[in-house]
Amino acid sequence: MGGGIAMCFANAGIPVHIIDQDEDNLKRGMSVIEKNYQFMVDRGKMTAEQKDFVFGLVTSSLDYNDVHDCDIVIEAVYENLDLKEKIFRTLDEVVKKDAILASNTSGLNVDSIAAVTNRPELVVGTHFFSPANIMRLLEVVRGEESSDETMATVMALGKKMNKASVVSLNAPGF
Ligand SMILES: NC(=O)c1ccc[n+]([C@@H]2O[C@H](COP(=O)([O-])OP(=O)(O)OC[C@H]3O[C@@H](n4cnc5c(N)ncnc54)[C@H](O)[C@@H]3O)[C@@H](O)[C@H]2O)c1
Repeated sequence: MGGGIAMCFANAGIPVHIIDQDEDNLKRGMSVIEKNYQFMVDRGKMTAEQKDFVFGLVTSSLDYNDVHDCDIVIEAVYENLDLKEKIFRTLDEVVKKDAILASNTSGLNVDSIAAVTNRPELVVGTHFFSPANIMRLLEVVRGEESSDETMATVMALGKKMNKASVVSLNAPGF
């Protein structure tokens, strides 16, 4: 999911950085992205120059500090609340204070994730569907404390990525 979400950003012309903890997974993810773009070149949907441009917008590393100045971070690790909470604690420490922190969770409680941070008003769910670079639906999950500004920003971002964004309550199954 992380690779597909990264493609959504790159396709919209927005530089994006992918973090993984596992070097092999990171390499595999980057090679899937590259193959997806090459497939589009082979099908005549994009020129080789366009591929070089969009793929050039995607960078990657194993270090959380590399996203410290991002405006939004979307977490897309395994569906495990303890792990997601641990990651949000780290992101809250590392990423600049006014950045939005989003989770691609399919159904975990966004309020529980927001509660481990010092910025619950900047936390939302961004539920992309698989494959994220193809599927247009984006559920923007509003937590108890998500601010109007955060919701408006993420909805505008969805529009920029040509998604059909819908606001959802933080309800079972969204
Ligand atoms: N797969 C789907 O169809 C789908 C659809 C919608 C939403 N989701 C949601 O998206 C999220 C990710 O799902 P997925 O199927 O892509 O999972 P995945 O298991 O394929 O990928 C998870 C990635 O997270 C990495 N990771 C694990 N711990 C990490 C850490 N501490 N720091 C950095 N990276 C770490 C792993 O190395 C792996 O590359 C889940 O919350 C899932 O519910 C999945």
